[in-house]
Amino acid sequence: MKHNLVYYGKDTLKQTALPVEEFNSELKDLSEEMFLIMKKNNGIGLAAPQINLSRRIITIELSVNDSASRFVIVNPEIEWLSDDRVPYEEGCLSIPGIYENVDRPSAVKVRGYDLNGNKLTYDAENVFARVLQHEIDHLNGILFIDRIEEFIRKEYLKELKKIKKMNRDK
Ligand code: NI
Repeated sequence: MKHNLVYYGKDTLKQTALPVEEFNSELKDLSEEMFLIMKKNNGIGLAAPQINLSRRIITIELSVNDSASRFVIVNPEIEWLSDDRVPYEEGCLSIPGIYENVDRPSAVKVRGYDLNGNKLTYDAENVFARVLQHEIDHLNGILFIDRIEEFIRKEYLKELKKIKKMNRDK
């Protein structure tokens, strides 16, 4: 594998990722690598900045009725969000060990491209909508802990400091 996970504190995670411009075999290989990294770490979603690559591509794998559904979305954009806000516990492969409720809209419409550059649209709700928003946030330099109340975030300062150091242990 060419890429490794990076963790909270890494600059790439704070940057706005650049659009993908070429839909080539490298992009397909990258998405396969992202699925492998996700599987290895028991994640259901991954964004390229999490493997230190500032590119707008996300992968999601959800199990629906015991079968896995894989999604790769290149240059995703949120087109519509529902007006409600629902809490749901989130975690992140770049912030291991921390789980907190985050309020987000329960439904979302996302536009983007598949690996061949074909346009695609997803109308998502519940867990799928949640993961889409979390991963698209990564492309804009936002982590789920940026979306929780500051007094809650402060409780994790020690853990976050430790996680930051994981970037150096590589
Ligand atoms: Ni994440």
